[in-house]
Amino acid sequence: DKGNYRHFMAKEIAEQPEVVGHTLAHHLDMANMRARVPDGIDFATLDRLAISACGTAFYAGLVARYWFEKFARMPVDIDIASEFRYREPPLKEGGLAIMISQSGETADTLATLRHCREQGMQIASVCNVPTSTIARDSDAVLPTLAGPEIGVASTKAFTCQLATLAALAVAAGRARKVLTAEDEFRLVNALIEVPRLMTETLKLEPQIERLAKTFAHSRDALYLGRGTSYPIALEGALKLKEISYIHAEGYAAGELKHGPIALIDEDVPVVVVAPFDQLFEKTVSNMQEVQARGGKVVLITDAEGAIVAGETFETLIVPTSYAFVSPLIYAIPMQLLAYHTAVFMGTDVDQPRNLAKSVTVE
Ligand code: F6R
Repeated sequence: DKGNYRHFMAKEIAEQPEVVGHTLAHHLDMANMRARVPDGIDFATLDRLAISACGTAFYAGLVARYWFEKFARMPVDIDIASEFRYREPPLKEGGLAIMISQSGETADTLATLRHCREQGMQIASVCNVPTSTIARDSDAVLPTLAGPEIGVASTKAFTCQLATLAALAVAAGRARKVLTAEDEFRLVNALIEVPRLMTETLKLEPQIERLAKTFAHSRDALYLGRGTSYPIALEGALKLKEISYIHAEGYAAGELKHGPIALIDEDVPVVVVAPFDQLFEKTVSNMQEVQARGGKVVLITDAEGAIVAGETFETLIVPTSYAFVSPLIYAIPMQLLAYHTAVFMGTDVDQPRNLAKSVTVE
């Protein structure tokens, strides 16, 4: 049931504060300000992690790599599920592999799970459908409590995957004695604030709807980000291309001058994902390289970032958050921009051409 919404995608975007809140409540022990560790996983004895997934779920894994490496000092080996096996990565018996899948039925992810199991690994899955094949074949299931996701383009499942993985990375950091109790308190507190910040961020919708009219006339778009904003840029580009059919590419902001800058002219909008954090200054200098070539910059940042960055074609100001949780917040303008561009162009938003909700062939 779409309720009062025109599309399932719109409803699912709007539900995020609530479902991310449920997901966090499950994975955090809020009374004691701690992140929970799933039964059977002992992070203290693991020396690395393998993560695999497809599409949007893979981008959640890319964000999680930054978190596990920073907070738990665990090296993360990550690849898309359709390539993971072909690399024949050396996997350790007793090691932990994490599969991320909304549907729990994605053929490539399931094949990777089975490959890892044959190598003697333990399997944990971050999954939205507890009765799915991937969930059933896992030793531990970390549920995303997004509820059914009907729109083919993943939205709320993605932010619930991020919430789950963020809590898990904090739990791993504590188990491995990298994080102190104060560190954990601070990180859990940052997570608890996310639903409220998401509600604030959703208020950007009218501004994004107006911006989408400009986007609808573009043939190509670029998305740039650094650090954890890099996978968010990849996700923004994927969302736009899958529902509006506008060609879009996400790049690490630092890669711009190694090739993609050749594409910049007045007709190419460039979405720059740049929270005011330690990486901000560098990303803004990449943004200025785009502006110097006439590119139309859409900057997504917070109030401080907007002041420092100066004039742009359009600046979307999201609420200020801890750098740790910014991927969960910045995902929302990515979704809204793709959604409104597609609505303006009149495409079938919930059922884009050539795409299926669960991909059960390799
Ligand atoms: C993008 C999208 C796909 C899925 C991918 C994995 O919006 O929905 O890229 O993320 O097909 O699907 P699951 O998570 O069901 O394994």
